[in-house]
Amino acid sequence: MTEIHTPRLLLRRWHDDDLTAMADINADPRVMRWVDDGSVYDLDHTAEAIEEWEEEWDEEGFGLFAVELLASGELAGFTGLSVPHFLPAVMPAVAIGWRLGAQFWGQGYASEAAQASLEFALQDRGLDRVISISRVGDTASENVIRKLGMAPERETVHPVHGHPLHVHAIDLTEFQA
Ligand SMILES: CC(C)(COP(=O)(O)OP(=O)(O)OC[C@H]1O[C@@H](n2cnc3c(N)ncnc32)[C@H](O)[C@@H]1OP(=O)(O)O)[C@@H](O)C(=O)NCCC(=O)NCCS
Repeated sequence: MTEIHTPRLLLRRWHDDDLTAMADINADPRVMRWVDDGSVYDLDHTAEAIEEWEEEWDEEGFGLFAVELLASGELAGFTGLSVPHFLPAVMPAVAIGWRLGAQFWGQGYASEAAQASLEFALQDRGLDRVISISRVGDTASENVIRKLGMAPERETVHPVHGHPLHVHAIDLTEFQA
C-alpha cells in the first residue's frame, strides 16, 4: 500500500467511503472554477473519477493521492500525479495536480501535499521530469507551482475548451539543487 505521511497530512490510495466527501468538493463551483470548463461534478461523475484514479494507480504505479488531515481524519481532496492524455502537445509527460475543498485552502496543505507528491515522483518512482498544467489566471495553483520550484516551459491552449494554459516543469537535477 502506498502511503506518505507529511507533518499534517496522510496521502493514500482511495477508499470507498471517500466518495461523499470528494463529491461535495467536486460539487462546489468555487473549487471547480479553474478545472476543465468549470463544470461541477455530480455524484456519479465523482464515483467514475475515483475509479479512474484508482485504475491509474494500478496501471502506472502512481496516481492522485487522497489527502487526509492527520488531526481529524477528514478528506481534504487530492494531490498527486497523472498522465495528461488530454493534452497531446506535452506528451509524453507526468503532471502534478491538486484539488482541495474550499474550507482547506489557505493553510499550506496543498503545498505540503504537492511537495511530498513531487518527492514521490522523482525520488521514489524514479521519474526524471514532472510538469504542471494550469489555466492562465489560476493564481492559487501558480503559487503552489512557484513554491515547488517549477520553471515556466510553454503556453498552449486546451484542445477541447480552448482556454490558455501554462505548462511548468521540473526535473530531478533542478529538484535536488
Ligand atoms: C489550488 C489550490 C489547491 C491551492 O490551495 P492553497 O491552500 O491556496 O495553497 P497552499 O497550500 O500553498 O496554501 C496557501 C497559503 O496558505 C497559507 N498558510 C497558512 N498556514 C500555513 C502553514 N502552516 N504552512 C504553509 N502555508 C500556510 C500561506 O500563507 C499560503 O499562502 P502563500 O503561498 O501566499 O504564502 C486550491 O486553491 C484549490 O484546491 N483550488 C481548486 C482546485 C483547482 O483549481 N485546482 C487546480 C486546477 S486543475
